[in-house]
Amino acid sequence: MHKNKGPVYYGDYLQLPKLLDSQLPLSRKYADSTNGECHDEMLFIVVHQVYELWFKQIIHDLDSVLSVFKKTYIPEVELSSIVQKLERIQKIQGLLIGQFDVLETMTPMDFLEFRDLLIPASGFQSVQFREIEIKLGLHTNDRLDVDREFFMGRLDEKDRAHLTQVEKSPTILKCLEGWLERIPYTNMEGFNFWSEYQKSINDILKDDQDIIETNSAHLSDRQKQIQLENLKLTRETFSSLFDETKHKDLIEKNQRKLSQKAILNALFILLYRHESMLALPFQVITGLMNIDENFTTWRYRHALLAQRMLGTKIGTGGSSGHQYLKRAADNNRVFLDLFNLSTFLIPNSRLPKLPVEVKKKMSFHV
Ligand code: HEM
Repeated sequence: MHKNKGPVYYGDYLQLPKLLDSQLPLSRKYADSTNGECHDEMLFIVVHQVYELWFKQIIHDLDSVLSVFKKTYIPEVELSSIVQKLERIQKIQGLLIGQFDVLETMTPMDFLEFRDLLIPASGFQSVQFREIEIKLGLHTNDRLDVDREFFMGRLDEKDRAHLTQVEKSPTILKCLEGWLERIPYTNMEGFNFWSEYQKSINDILKDDQDIIETNSAHLSDRQKQIQLENLKLTRETFSSLFDETKHKDLIEKNQRKLSQKAILNALFILLYRHESMLALPFQVITGLMNIDENFTTWRYRHALLAQRMLGTKIGTGGSSGHQYLKRAADNNRVFLDLFNLSTFLIPNSRLPKLPVEVKKKMSFHV
């Protein structure tokens, strides 16, 4: 434990003079005899600054997660520290989403009083927001055109150099892929889980087909045909899981990001999440899904805020405003592969039984 060598003063420790002297409304600077300072600009600045402080904490925690996650061997105790950091990020995101309620106490007309003074500054220039996106795994090529062109182009040289550097570093998505690929249980001696799983799927799909065919009395020929075609599509979706060529094709079309092995192992974790050895890996996966979902919720809330304040006006950064933000919310998903795994979940009762030896290994049995 460190020991301090002198008394500490609250305001000095927290650098409060610097912090509390950092809210400088432009409407105060440009106030004249006709236009005074806009009261709500203070709220606008404080809310943005609070966001940036929380972004700083998220980056701090993501860096800690990355420092462990990029290792080729991650001991149990370090995995639980990852889970704990991911949980903290989720709690912070709850605050980030809730804060819009405070900002929305400002009316659009109060905002308009000072908005033009901000041009061309924009959230596009939030370097920390971009850093979070990049560290999670959002690649430049995944961005919408306007985002790709505008965000780097609107930054000063120092910020651009910083983000270019960040883009060269490992991302959570890449680390997740490597970690998932190393999970050992699906192909252990004398047991190939995936051939067992495929058998279960075939049985389930066969049952579905029987139901359509035997219940066909109340279906017209057309209805029966539609149901059988849908079943064929389901079969193809399942086969894409095991077919390497189809998987590569989906990666090229940017519809999948993780390797086939990583996806299969993530699915195994979801299917057998109740086994002791998989409890923490399951929490890593759900933590990342929650973070992805929370950012998407944040983006939707922010898009609605922009619509409420601006209607269909363009943003100060030059984008189409609400329309762009809404599209970015749909587009900028990092862990979509994990969400799509639900397609391949099956009921517990149809899960292949794990051999005793495998079960022992997965329950800390010596
Ligand atoms: C009156 C309140 C706000 C309005 C009207 C607004 C509007 C907009 C608009 C229109 C954009 C698109 C870029 C552009 O053309 O400028 C944008 C981007 C952005 N804003 Fe806001 N914003 C507001 C508050 C906030 C707050 C409080 C934050 C918190 C940090 C924030 C963070 C961002 C970020 C990070 C982006 C880039 C998002 C992306 O490209 O995906 N905004 N904002």
